[in-house]
Amino acid sequence: MIDLGSFPGGFVQVLNERTNDKELVEIFGIDLQAMSLEIPFVDRKRTQFFVSDIFNDMPSEILPKREKQFSLVTSDMMSKTTGVHETDAANSLELCEVAFRLSIERLLMRNGGFVCKMFENNGLKKFEVDARGVFETVKLFRPEASRKQSREIFVVCSGFKG
Ligand SMILES: C[S@@+](CC[C@H](N)C(=O)[O-])C[C@H]1O[C@@H](n2cnc3c(N)ncnc32)[C@H](O)[C@@H]1O
Repeated sequence: MIDLGSFPGGFVQVLNERTNDKELVEIFGIDLQAMSLEIPFVDRKRTQFFVSDIFNDMPSEILPKREKQFSLVTSDMMSKTTGVHETDAANSLELCEVAFRLSIERLLMRNGGFVCKMFENNGLKKFEVDARGVFETVKLFRPEASRKQSREIFVVCSGFKG
């Protein structure tokens, strides 16, 4: 599994906790920022972190070495927020689109899953349509906790058609 925008480690904690076959599942985290050495509930024997910018080359440990070998890609990448919703939403969409393209072109194995969190924006509908073209199931999910205060939404895709 791979988590894009992994700092400070919340998603990676959940991936560590929720994976059933702990011996087999490796987890990779990528972020512009270095992760701390100790993160609660994160097993460092099967979890590796890389400091990398998604707009540049991926770490060679991931590509080309593990091309199309990932069962799940998660992305919570976000640049520093400006407070201007349109700008923040456009930045969020761009990062989700890069994560999506990279996932379907190079990272995911057949039947794999993709989850990204984005600020709601005008591009969401097209993003959803594109996702429906390459995944069996696409669901939009707004967590209860974020309903009132924020306009964040999870796009949850499963069954990559490869
Ligand atoms: C909201 S935080 C992620 C929180 C994390 N998912 C967690 O659960 O702890 C967004 C992260 O995206 C990272 N990020 C933004 N642009 C990026 C890029 N171009 N490449 C890699 N990471 C990026 C930021 O450095 C930041 O740490």
